[in-house]
Amino acid sequence: MTGFIFDLDGVIVDTAKYHFLAWKKLANELGFEFTEEQNELFKGVSRKRCLEILLDIGNIKSNQEQFDTWMVQKNLDYLEYIEKMNESEILPNVPKILKYLKEEGFPIALGSASKNARPILEKVKLLPYFDVIVDGNSVTKAKPNPEVFLIAAEQLGVVPENCIVFEDALAGIEAANIAGMTSIGIGDEKTLSKADFNFNDFTEISLEFIEKLVNSK
Ligand code: BG6
Ligand code: MG
Repeated sequence: MTGFIFDLDGVIVDTAKYHFLAWKKLANELGFEFTEEQNELFKGVSRKRCLEILLDIGNIKSNQEQFDTWMVQKNLDYLEYIEKMNESEILPNVPKILKYLKEEGFPIALGSASKNARPILEKVKLLPYFDVIVDGNSVTKAKPNPEVFLIAAEQLGVVPENCIVFEDALAGIEAANIAGMTSIGIGDEKTLSKADFNFNDFTEISLEFIEKLVNSK
């Protein structure tokens, strides 16, 4: 049996822009600039680690209380940005692939670093496709640690070797590779060159490709 594991941010929905806006707002309030280029470093990375990197960029020292306040503040701003999200923000062809996998009876999991994964899936109405959700609330070790994908595989009842992971972040591709899963990079091929397969987006992934991949397992 083959299982499929999807990352959320940047794979199913383009939430990276909202994470960026919320981090940029915090950076500006703290008195420095934060660019889209720097935001690339934040993909797939936990909220806590993102704030550590942000404060490094701004050369800002903080005590625990300030750190916690900024974590909360960033998330409140992020929640405001995603408040109005709907199906129109699902990335192209994602529903088609999910529908196909569901109809074929493959188990499907979400493997995301985000603590906001479930409400986002609800907003874009994709929650019913997922048999298992492993998110930032259920893991202790962030990607590239494979924990998130290994828990997903276990809950799906599929051995890691038979899992196929869709990821847009290098940390996520590394996590899938370490877990012994097949990694599919969605996005820039140069950044994701460690992936077993690369596509710019889901419009490039045919159902025949998935069928062949499953049969090769
Ligand atoms: C990942 C994003 O999916 O989730 C990261 O790629 C983000 O950019 C991380 O920092 C944590 O998300 P959240 O919603 O828990 O702050
Ligand atoms: Mg991602």
